[in-house]
Amino acid sequence: MNRLSHSSPHQGADRAGKPALADLYPTHLETVGQRFSAALETAGFDAVAVFAGSPHGWFLDDQDYPFQINPHFKNWLPLLHAHDSFVAYVPGQKPVLVYYQPEDYWYLPPAPPSGYWTRHFEIRIVRHTEDAKGALPGARRCAFLGEWQERFKSWGFADVNPETLLNQLHYARAAKTGYELECMRQANIISAKGHRAAEQAFHAGASEFEIHTAFCAACGQTDDELPYHAIIALNEHAATLHYQYREREKPARRHSFLIDAAAQVNGYAADVTRTYSAERDEFQALIDALDKEQQALGKKVRPETDFKTLHLEAHHAIARLLHDFDFVRLPPGESVTKGISSMFLPHGLGHLLGLQVHDVGGLMASPRGNLIPKPDGHPYLRNTRVLKENFVTTIEPGLYFIPSLLEKLKAGPHSRHVNWAKVDAFRKFGGIRIEDNVVARAAGPENLTRDAFKTM
Ligand code: GLY
Ligand code: MN
Ligand code: MN
Repeated sequence: MNRLSHSSPHQGADRAGKPALADLYPTHLETVGQRFSAALETAGFDAVAVFAGSPHGWFLDDQDYPFQINPHFKNWLPLLHAHDSFVAYVPGQKPVLVYYQPEDYWYLPPAPPSGYWTRHFEIRIVRHTEDAKGALPGARRCAFLGEWQERFKSWGFADVNPETLLNQLHYARAAKTGYELECMRQANIISAKGHRAAEQAFHAGASEFEIHTAFCAACGQTDDELPYHAIIALNEHAATLHYQYREREKPARRHSFLIDAAAQVNGYAADVTRTYSAERDEFQALIDALDKEQQALGKKVRPETDFKTLHLEAHHAIARLLHDFDFVRLPPGESVTKGISSMFLPHGLGHLLGLQVHDVGGLMASPRGNLIPKPDGHPYLRNTRVLKENFVTTIEPGLYFIPSLLEKLKAGPHSRHVNWAKVDAFRKFGGIRIEDNVVARAAGPENLTRDAFKTM
């Protein structure tokens, strides 16, 4: 990341042989404009005002939670800290940035706009939040898009977050522009650096807290800048899918380490998980076997692949491992149909990725907002779409030893098929997840994460 990440975008000029973000941005902006124009026309509006959002305060306090910008705002330009600003767009006209830049000596105001994107906007600076009203372009029917506040009631918007508009935008953004893909490539390279540092810290005997600190330092991103709360789990903590703490104490014995943590570039996320064993033991053999299955699944990320089918293939892969490592004494197909594989893999194979880590639109059947149902018995799958060119999805199969699910399995009708002595011996490892970010391409998938680790 650039040093002044509070203000200026990642320029991306530092990667030999790859077009810089500055060169890719104009085409990106054109695509965003086209998508908004089409959506506004269908929804019956002649303009949109995309509100960046305002910081939220703590209850009974004068401090704010870390600010998170409206994803629709950062779709237009690489500004992550521009609270109370607007991007206003009238199809056919240059987009307007109404940029809130207060005079303030308590907090550093957003910096003057600079960088490759500025010449594409008409920029109007306002010093007070109320002045934005007069700076927005006049339009007969302007839709408001963002977090609504009562103070906007008198501003004359025709509608607030109209569903017909949002559905079209959410459906379209699954396919990434060249600029977005390059942001995500770079986010993966930064993430890989963080992962390498975290792995070294684990093998050197660090605590979860120390590993997390090493990860952030190697990424050059603070906790607040990461695209999601990093999961840093030693031993049985890996059995909690979104384990949220960072233990300061080192465990008496270390068996395993699961890290699900990543960086972002210009508001585009990476989402990366790796799992390690402390020894060259059977748990490491299980990790290696799952890694092979994960890579095979990643190779199927292509246009026209139905993600529901791929998710079910992942269950068959997990069932094979359960059989081959003698956890479950049943043919793999039966483990799947009996719901046993779901006790070891209780989440979806993956999700769309981009402006948000769990990007919107993964269940949409069309731009009209109707949904594609999840397969029966798979309530946590977040992507049921058929992949198209330049969709970016995570591929993140897992195999866990989760106490509450194992109790359920033990109490149920299929308990006798389980080798409990073996399962019990693996509880101390918590579980395994391996997660890559993959671009669907007719010419063959681009695995952003594997490519990034290869550059280390
Ligand atoms: N990091 C959350 C997830 O993998 O979906
Ligand atoms: Mn994920
Ligand atoms: Mn993840």
